[in-house]
Amino acid sequence: MIELLIFESMEIKENYSLKSFNTFGINVDAKYFTQVASLEELEVVLDFIEAKKIPFLILGGGSNLLFTKDFDGIMIKADFKGIKIVKEDQQHIFVKAEAGENWDEFVQFCVDNNFAGLENLSLIPGNVGASPIQNIGAYGVELKDHFFELEFFDFAIRSVQKFGMKDCAFGYRNSVFKNELKGKGMILSVTYRLNKHPEFKTEYGTIKDEIEAMGVSELSVKTIRQAVISIRRSKLPDPEIIGNAGSFFKNPTISMEEHRRLKNKFPEIVSFPQSDRRFKLAAGWLIDQCGWKGKRVGDAGVHENQALVLVNYGNASGKEIYDLSEEIKISVFDKFGVELEREVNIL
Ligand code: FAD
Ligand code: EPU
Repeated sequence: MIELLIFESMEIKENYSLKSFNTFGINVDAKYFTQVASLEELEVVLDFIEAKKIPFLILGGGSNLLFTKDFDGIMIKADFKGIKIVKEDQQHIFVKAEAGENWDEFVQFCVDNNFAGLENLSLIPGNVGASPIQNIGAYGVELKDHFFELEFFDFAIRSVQKFGMKDCAFGYRNSVFKNELKGKGMILSVTYRLNKHPEFKTEYGTIKDEIEAMGVSELSVKTIRQAVISIRRSKLPDPEIIGNAGSFFKNPTISMEEHRRLKNKFPEIVSFPQSDRRFKLAAGWLIDQCGWKGKRVGDAGVHENQALVLVNYGNASGKEIYDLSEEIKISVFDKFGVELEREVNIL
């Protein structure tokens, strides 16, 4: 039963279903749930956490999470809103967006205003506040390529800290917020450095093909956005229709020697050389080769167009999806000797 608790004028819901707050559509409850849109509200919630001595989790759009059980603490949805231009120079425009802004609406805003850089990251679900957490990336662009700074509210000292590029330690689907600072505070806003004069990124194979197919004579941020949206719609399941959290695993990177060994055994293997002489493997290909694509175990499944995406066809539990991911990990390791690492945050 959901109960409403009023704690120093904040509404805190009790025993609250998270089904509509995660794109997998997993039906678990949080012991407590609240939304914060200002620092004052956040301070009240921190007092509540201290009083109750309970764990907490920050929630954005819930598009990179898998809930495997009820959450016995407080779920705090970051709802800070607002977008503003904070400064500009000859080449750049610096735009600050608050954590609770929807990511793709923010990208649309940038594209509408011809602020270039984020168009390749169109249609990624979730909110601005989570964009630095795993340094979101797609179609040859990563968030770090257009990151300027962010504001982080450190819960231990209850103060706002500014983080520049170096402080964030961005890597492939990684940052300091997934490591040392995991569970230590909330990202309140992110400022992006966007280009006044676009530099189009079309090297990623499928973008090139899509733009050619669109018959575009002159590139613009709008046409890149259209191409990206069209590719994504053709490959990735829409979470409104089939529950999922995008790529379930990261693409693994391996040494040159390991790559040579695999290439000899599997000449068709899909791999991409990295600047540090290592190779990134397409995890989707590895999983596909193990015969998982389109497989279904109850309501948990592997998407039929993209083996890297696990899906919930309706009433799968988080545990069932997790167990399926474990089986996939084992079979990829048995066939290729490659260890897959989950991208999705498991709770
Ligand atoms: P949530 O899932 O709510 O949270 C993710 C993590 O960040 C959690 O650990 C949470 O505690 C933490 N967190 C969230 N907000 C804050 C905050 N304000 N302060 C501190 N911690 C916070 N990702 C890509 O990189 N590239 C893709 O191409 C891509 N495609 C996707 C396609 C689909 C169909 C789906 C469903 C997902 C895809 N994703 C992709 C994954 C996902 O969209 C991103 O990781 C996104 O940034 C998650 O945002 P969110 O707001 O939903 O975060
Ligand atoms: N492939 C297969 N079978 C499959 C799936 C993929 O053979 O079932 C092959 C494809 O043919 C292609 C290669 O694997 O040669 C790569 O596939 P794709 O271009 O679809 O990209 P991906 O590596 O599977 C990554 C990101 C996506 C991002 C796209 C586009 C990771 C973990 N995933 O997917 O990010 O949108 O590239 O840049 O890096 C996410 O993180 O949630 C996500 C969706």
